[in-house]
Amino acid sequence: MRAAGAVEAFLRREVPGGRVLLINNSGFGSYGRFPEPNLAHQLEMLDVNVRALVQLTGLLLPLLRERGGAVMNIASTASFQPTAFMATYGASKAFVLNWSLALNEELRGTNVRTLAVCPGATESEFDLRAGLAKGSVAKSLSMTSEEVVTMAFGALASGQALVVTGWKNKVSAFVGSFPARALVARFAAKVLARFRLKQVQR
Ligand SMILES: NC(=O)c1ccc[n+]([C@@H]2O[C@H](COP(=O)([O-])OP(=O)(O)OC[C@H]3O[C@@H](n4cnc5c(N)ncnc54)[C@H](OP(=O)(O)O)[C@@H]3O)[C@@H](O)[C@H]2O)c1
Repeated sequence: MRAAGAVEAFLRREVPGGRVLLINNSGFGSYGRFPEPNLAHQLEMLDVNVRALVQLTGLLLPLLRERGGAVMNIASTASFQPTAFMATYGASKAFVLNWSLALNEELRGTNVRTLAVCPGATESEFDLRAGLAKGSVAKSLSMTSEEVVTMAFGALASGQALVVTGWKNKVSAFVGSFPARALVARFAAKVLARFRLKQVQR
């Protein structure tokens, strides 16, 4: 809460014009049988992976709408299916993906959009922090952070709502989800706008 307020104050003071890009990247996972290593760790994961992302976006959205811009949400290939032995992590990333796609539909017609980025295994501190021994994931299955970032910004530039990085990850995401999620998001937005949104009373 304080961080978002400080960021907004900084942007208004030091960078009074220009579009805003919010990247919700912070996140961590944990391998094991729920609730290993302990329940507090699982709840902290939800705080970082889900709560902080909703909070930061909610607090910065007025500024984003004022100036235009984008919100890049880092999800995962884990978003596409239940992930036993990483149950909370996978579910938190499913939230990130669906929330990002839904928000993008709500923002259609405004000067703000969202992009959900779904990397698979990527060389970083992630696996070590998640409890895996060093070198547990074969390098041939991993991408570098630079590759992921390049693809993410390419997708942002071309106006995509969702990008799964790399062909191996695309295959895994495709197998994990029928039909294509971005299309489902578009269809659901149209149905909800027509049959629910008009009934809202505030
Ligand atoms: N690496 C992968 O295989 C992979 C695959 C799919 C998706 N992702 C996602 O990619 C994003 C970036 O992860 P990464 O691969 O770059 O891993 P990383 O090297 O471990 O970086 C994780 C980032 O999240 C922050 N973070 C972790 N725990 C936090 C906490 N409790 N409170 C606040 N900040 C915290 C870290 O900040 P500090 O360094 O300051 O602690 C760091 O900036 C995450 O959302 C992750 O879920 C990673």
